[in-house]
Amino acid sequence: MKSLTNCAISIITPTRNERETIPTLLNELQIALAGIPAEVLIIDDSDDDTPNVIKRVTKKMRGSLSVRCVHRKPGPDRAGGLSSAVCLGLAEAKADYVAIIDADLQHPPQMLRNLYEEAYEHNADVVMATRYKAGGSYEGLDGVSRKLISMGMKWTAKILFPETLKSVSDPLGGFFLIRRSIISGVELRPIGYKISLEILVRGKWSIIREVPYQFHARIGGQSKADFKQGFMALQHMWRLICEVPHAARIWKFLLVGFCGTVINLAAFTYLLHIGAAEWFALIIGAELGTLNNFTLHNLITWRDKRSTSLGGLAQNALKFHLSSSMSIIANFLLYALLRHFIAFPLLDNAVAIMLAMIVNYTLADTFVFVDRGAISKMFQSLRGKKVIPDEAQSATLAEAQPVGAQK
Ligand code: GDD
Ligand code: MN
Repeated sequence: MKSLTNCAISIITPTRNERETIPTLLNELQIALAGIPAEVLIIDDSDDDTPNVIKRVTKKMRGSLSVRCVHRKPGPDRAGGLSSAVCLGLAEAKADYVAIIDADLQHPPQMLRNLYEEAYEHNADVVMATRYKAGGSYEGLDGVSRKLISMGMKWTAKILFPETLKSVSDPLGGFFLIRRSIISGVELRPIGYKISLEILVRGKWSIIREVPYQFHARIGGQSKADFKQGFMALQHMWRLICEVPHAARIWKFLLVGFCGTVINLAAFTYLLHIGAAEWFALIIGAELGTLNNFTLHNLITWRDKRSTSLGGLAQNALKFHLSSSMSIIANFLLYALLRHFIAFPLLDNAVAIMLAMIVNYTLADTFVFVDRGAISKMFQSLRGKKVIPDEAQSATLAEAQPVGAQK
C-alpha cells in the first residue's frame, strides 16, 4: 500500500445536542486516524452544553488530531439546520479530502480510515459508505416506517437521477468522503438532510467507490429527523431537477418527447379533419413534433450544451432532424425484423419504439448537443498538444498539505 503520510483529511461533524456521544466520537476518531494528519470540524447548533463538553474533551486529548468547534447561535445562523452546517464545514475545510460523519456514533468512526484508504488507493473523487451492499446493514434505523421511508427515498432518488446514481447504492446516507475540489466553484443549495445527494448531483466527480458499513442504533441522545425530512427530501430533489441541467436528463427528454407526440398527433388529426392529404398530414405532424422537441431540448433537456450562435443553432437543428430520422428508421427496421418472428404487432412496435427512443437520446446526447469545449480538447490532445486539466482533475493526493494544529 502507498504511504499515507503526505495526505490530509478534514472531518466534518454536525452536532445538535450530542453531549452524550461526542466524547466517544472524538476518542474513536483519534484512534482511527492515528498517523494521518487530520482536522475535525464540529459545526454545532446545540442548545445543551455540547460545546463545553467538546472543550473539556479536546483539552485532554493527546496526539496529532486537530479539533475545531464552530458554534452557531440560535436564529438565522442556524437556518438550513444540518445541511447548512455541513456546507459551512465544507467552506472551512482545508484538506484535499473531506469526510462527513454523524456525531451520534450511528456511523462507525473507525470506518473513516477505510473510506480514506479506499479513496487513496483508487484515486477516487467520492467514497460513499453504504448500508445497502453485502457487509452493510441499515438495521439501526429506528422502526419499520423509518426503514421503509429510507428505502422509498433511496429508490425515488435512483429512479429520478439514473445517470448520476446508477453505481451508487446509498445516495442519501450522511456518511461519505469527497475530494474537496469536486465542489470548488459549485454553489450548494441543499434542503433538509440529504447533503450527499446535493454533492453527487452538483459535484464534478468521475471516480466513485463504495464501502459497506453497519448503521448502528443510537446509543445516546435523540434523532432530529422527522416526517418533515421526507417531504424536504422531495423538495430538494425537485430543486435539483430544476436547477441542474443534467439532473434527470432522461426524464426531461421523455417529457419533451411526449409533448412532441401530442403535437404531432394533434396536427395530424386537424389536417385530416380539414381534408388534407394523408401523406401531407403525416409530414407536417412529424415536422411540428420535431421542431417542438428541438426547441424544448434547447430550453430544458440540454440547456447546458445548447449552441447560442444562430449558425450553431441551425446546424444543431439539422443534426437533430437527421438523428430523429435515424431513430424512425431504427423503429421501422426493428419492427420489420420482430414482426417476422413474433406475431404481436403491438408488442413488436412497443419494443421497436423503445429502441428508437434510445437511438434518439444517444444521438442527441453525443452528436447534436455536444460540449464544444470537450471536443476541441479531444482534438488538441489527439494532435499531441498539452491539455491543461480542470482543477478537479489536477488535484492529486501528492499535493495535499498536512493541516496544522488548530487546538
Ligand atoms: N449542526 C447541526 N444542526 N447538526 C444537526 C442538526 C442541526 O440542525 N440536526 C441534526 N444534526 C446532527 C446530529 O447531531 C447528528 O450528529 C447528525 O446531524 C444526524 O442527525 P440525526 O438526528 O441523528 O439523524 P438521523 O440519524 O435520523 O439520520 C441520519 O441518517 C440518515 C440516513 O438514514 C443522518 O446521517 C442523515 O444525514 C441520513 O440521511
Ligand atoms: Mn443519527
